Amino acid sequence: MTKKHQIVKAKRKEDSLMLKSERPSIPKKWNYRVSVKRIKQLIYKWKNLTDEVFDELYIARKKLSQKAALRPRDTSGTFIPVDKNWTTYCEDIGHSRQVVNVWLLRKFGQKETTSQITGSTPSLPKNKYRTIVVDPPWPIQRIPRAERPNQPKDYAYQTMEVEEIQKLELPASQENCNVFLWVTHKFLPAAFECFDRWGVRYVCTFVWHKPGGFQVYQQPQRNCEFVLFGVIGKSKFRTTKNFKCCFAAKRGKHSEKPREFYETIERVSLPLRLDMFARKAHKGFKVWGLEV
Ligand SMILES: C[S@@+](CC[C@H](N)C(=O)[O-])C[C@H]1O[C@@H](n2cnc3c(N)ncnc32)[C@H](O)[C@@H]1O
Repeated sequence: MTKKHQIVKAKRKEDSLMLKSERPSIPKKWNYRVSVKRIKQLIYKWKNLTDEVFDELYIARKKLSQKAALRPRDTSGTFIPVDKNWTTYCEDIGHSRQVVNVWLLRKFGQKETTSQITGSTPSLPKNKYRTIVVDPPWPIQRIPRAERPNQPKDYAYQTMEVEEIQKLELPASQENCNVFLWVTHKFLPAAFECFDRWGVRYVCTFVWHKPGGFQVYQQPQRNCEFVLFGVIGKSKFRTTKNFKCCFAAKRGKHSEKPREFYETIERVSLPLRLDMFARKAHKGFKVWGLEV
């Protein structure tokens, strides 16, 4: 069956689905292969989509979307083979990702994201770093839904007051440490203040030229974001070849920073590297934040 046929079939099926408001709780222990086997058996046995199937699919998607954030020392008992993700999972159960997403959307409503994670600032890692990327949860104002009904649900995560961010202590660093601080237009002045308070000497600014961007009436469209670069001690890089202040990259989901940025920093900078306020792991970086 072609993908187009599968989608048409799923759309037909979706009409018979009742919205299920209760989402299953996510177990600590979860195993990719066991889950695939279970789903295949359930679908075969019932030849239908039961609540049991939906719950298992929901859990699988949740586990697999959290996968990137799981560190090797994760002890939750989750087992996900390398190279397996939500797309391979759907293929392994015999359907395309688009089709399964339609089922889940119809059953549980809009996809819920990690934005619901809240808590207090975790303790800082103990290592000494030579490269630190900071992407703080600046206190963005949420636009009421009535005005922006199509605003994605993952718009929000827990934010911090500017003062709290400025009071933050950076983890210990080597004598020479490069610091990269992500910031939007609105918080640029506050970001410079962060550097002063953290003892970081400002060097220059990176500009991420991104497609689109919001535009306030009678103001230019904000189609870029910034990374202030500063140093503790002296600036030292492994290489500075093809290392440029201005770069273009696609946008991801809300607030997600481009992979290309992390790849460049990993290529040019010295370890140990730390990604602060991370939501997922990037190669060559240790992660810290509420969601990892
Ligand atoms: C701007 S987002 C980071 C985005 C991330 N760099 C990416 O590319 O996807 C800020 C993150 O800080 C987290 N956060 C909020 N309050 C926090 C706190 N007090 N301590 C640590 N992390 C916090 C949020 O949950 C969110 O994941």
